[in-house]
Amino acid sequence: MQVIRSIAELRAWRKQAASVAFVPTMGNLHAGHIALVNEAHQHAAHVVVSIFVNRLQFGQGEDFDAYPRTFDDDCAKLEAAGVDVLFFPLEAELYPHVRQSFNVEPPHLQDELCGAFRPGHFRGVATVVTKLFNIVEPDFACFGKKDYQQLAIIRGMVEDLNSPVQLVPVDTGRADDGLALSSRNGYLTSEERAEAPRLYRNLTLMREALLSGDSDYAALETRARQDLEAHGWRVDYVEVRQAQTLEIAHAGEKNLVVLVAARLGKTRLIDNVEVAR
Ligand code: PAJ
Repeated sequence: MQVIRSIAELRAWRKQAASVAFVPTMGNLHAGHIALVNEAHQHAAHVVVSIFVNRLQFGQGEDFDAYPRTFDDDCAKLEAAGVDVLFFPLEAELYPHVRQSFNVEPPHLQDELCGAFRPGHFRGVATVVTKLFNIVEPDFACFGKKDYQQLAIIRGMVEDLNSPVQLVPVDTGRADDGLALSSRNGYLTSEERAEAPRLYRNLTLMREALLSGDSDYAALETRARQDLEAHGWRVDYVEVRQAQTLEIAHAGEKNLVVLVAARLGKTRLIDNVEVAR
């Protein structure tokens, strides 16, 4: 595996590469990320992974400084997964100006769900993903459904801005007890880790109810919220939405997704399940 730190060197490598599938990450890699790499291998001759903790998508008081940086471990995992190139730029390489003056502005969806609690987050994501796409020029790019709203925003961006990239959504990787794998799980105390699977359990219960024909979304959302709050969670949102677009779901809607974000102690966890009925 080649580790490339400069944009110029990455571009030179790209010129001689036939087809490329790309997996953008912020590092601290786990089995969920590696599933994206494995999927990437199915689509192109070469796989490029990036590791870049993108300051633009972190708000004031969020965990930019504390975000785990585990380069050596990450390299070993990527090497084992057969990655061709790891793009690992310095911050000054991607953001040479103190302020990023041009940004990619997503539509209203950026202010809903997670966006309502993380102002500017999805602008930061859309901007860095655009930059990475322009540098790596991938034919395919893999994104996890774990970050469902991020995937929806990138999907809209690729469509609306005619990016010549084909997106590949990948199912959420989970621990045996159902907890979605996430770099932020490392922040949980052992007590919190034992409590954390409740998030997915509630989603599973909501999925069962929706599949059995229940369309009282508000009542289902309230029940899940109350169960989480009764066990010490602070719930940002639990919502049933239309899958793909994330528009408000109407009764009788066939392709749904249930999304949740909630805090356990200092850690904010997100998860979702798709429901096709
Ligand atoms: P990061 O959180 O490192 O995630 C990188 C990719 O891995 C994303 O596409 C994410 O959805 C996927 N992923 C994370 N956990 C997963 C899981 N349990 N199962 C499946 N896929 C999972 O998402 C970001 O970084 C950043 O916002 C980024 C897109 C790199 C832009 O900075």
